[in-house]
Amino acid sequence: MQALLNTAVKAARKGGDLALRYLNRVGDLEVRSKARNEFVTQVDQAAEAAIIGSIRERYPQHAILAEESGKHAGNEFTWIIDPLDGTTNFIHGFPVFSVSIALEVHGQLEVGVVYDPCRQELFTTTRGGGAQLDGRRIRVSSWPGLEGSLIGTGFPYRSNTQWLPKYMPMLQAVMENTAGVRRPGSAALDLCYVAAGRLDGFWEFGLSIWDIAAGTLMIREAGGIATSLTPGQELAESGNIIAGSPKVHAALQQLLADHL
Ligand code: IPD
Ligand code: CA
Ligand code: CA
Repeated sequence: MQALLNTAVKAARKGGDLALRYLNRVGDLEVRSKARNEFVTQVDQAAEAAIIGSIRERYPQHAILAEESGKHAGNEFTWIIDPLDGTTNFIHGFPVFSVSIALEVHGQLEVGVVYDPCRQELFTTTRGGGAQLDGRRIRVSSWPGLEGSLIGTGFPYRSNTQWLPKYMPMLQAVMENTAGVRRPGSAALDLCYVAAGRLDGFWEFGLSIWDIAAGTLMIREAGGIATSLTPGQELAESGNIIAGSPKVHAALQQLLADHL
């Protein structure tokens, strides 16, 4: 797995460093709208091309599933790529975004890398090999429950706005029962913050596989839990996620279930 992880790290750094070089001139970027509140820039596309090029140079036969260019056929190894997670932040020069790369083999997540170019923080994981931040082992928080906890979330703000009527009472309940709620704007990074114990829990509706693949493996390898928020569905198909340390995951699930 180490060679595959090294490839993911190299590719993630390439994509993230490319985005960072554009951060101080975001005003010059051409911003295209894919759907309401769903933007893409030439940086998303250039970063994706650089990442895919880097992976394919080493593993030309592997398959790829990438946000901007879709599926590239290949063997049973599939790289799942979000070249720029947090595009809305990025186009405003708001320095919270990341690159997320995961590798699935025969449908099983094996490798995950999330790179934050603004802080130059690198989150890595392999199945069975734990989760690391800049090479040092990370664990989910040991906070005992919701009281005093810090919870991350993402708002339903585009094609997933149908969740708003359920989401708003959830937000209120979480605000009333915890120390605070954060909405940083890069789901892949938010999940890594859960893995590192910087957030005790997280929930969001309507994410895509490239937002969550690397982050969910990171959380599980850091001793946490990431499941579908909507019962009876697999997380990968629903994209509705609830995550946290085992204790906070259970408590948050119980609190949110009242509003589902
Ligand atoms: C988005 C970010 C954001 C989340 C959205 C995602 P993108 O990804 O992760 O935090 O709330 O749902 O789609 O579009 O910037 O890659
Ligand atoms: Ca994303
Ligand atoms: Ca993206």
